[in-house]
Amino acid sequence: MNKSFPIGIFDSGVGGLSVLQRINSKLPNESLVYVADSINAPYGTKDDSFIIDRSISIVDFLVANHQIKLLVIACNTATASSIGKLREIYDFPIIGMEPAIKPANEASKSKKVGILATEGTINSSKFSALLDSYSGETQFFTQPCIGLVELIERGQIDSHEVISLLKKNLIPLLEHNVDVVVLGCTHYIFIKKIVENFFNSEITIIETGDAVAMQTQRVLKEFNLESDNLIGHHTIYSNSKNSNMNSIVSSLLGDYDFLYDFQSNWC
Ligand code: DGL
Repeated sequence: MNKSFPIGIFDSGVGGLSVLQRINSKLPNESLVYVADSINAPYGTKDDSFIIDRSISIVDFLVANHQIKLLVIACNTATASSIGKLREIYDFPIIGMEPAIKPANEASKSKKVGILATEGTINSSKFSALLDSYSGETQFFTQPCIGLVELIERGQIDSHEVISLLKKNLIPLLEHNVDVVVLGCTHYIFIKKIVENFFNSEITIIETGDAVAMQTQRVLKEFNLESDNLIGHHTIYSNSKNSNMNSIVSSLLGDYDFLYDFQSNWC
């Protein structure tokens, strides 16, 4: 395995760009290839076999076209469905993500934690097992935010629709007096400000992007795969039918300080 090969990253859509940003800040000399399976988003309402098939097609594409040295599944939903299968098939290191329950449990004083995640993540056995290991000490309240991923895929991050959909999902958490909210879907990182404002910044918001970037750094070191490049160059693929996708990607990335190519020619 060559150290100069890129890291592959994928998500059902643009949500995992929030993870790409964190990995880029921590490891600016690594090249990243990102695949957004936007045409099939959301994954959160699909069954495991569909998500496993898509995950394998995406990783085959990354291997065939970019010879990736490591994979990050920048999607809580796809991690829950497909990480086991992907680890059986491919021999490079694979890092997944799951809602940050352990840090949320530690941060909560009231021992009441809210979790925003997709239906797929909330209903997965991996997630139930994770919650079970902490539910003796803490009460967890989950909200599936149905429809939010679709709005974010359209580049809406502070529209009225997003704000009112979020309100509907946050009111029950407010009523339960949670003092910590976990963003358990990578798309939701882009609406973190709205969640913060809703609670008047009186709660702690926890997400997993930085932890995944740190884990990526650790694993690269462990396998002696750290890049010698001075600076990484990134490629972002999306199979969205939306012809504005390139500008949606760039607006979600905000004031990014890295070079990337945008490609729509894959499926
Ligand atoms: N961004 C994804 C996650 O972290 C998937 C959202 C979806 O496609 O439903 O779960």
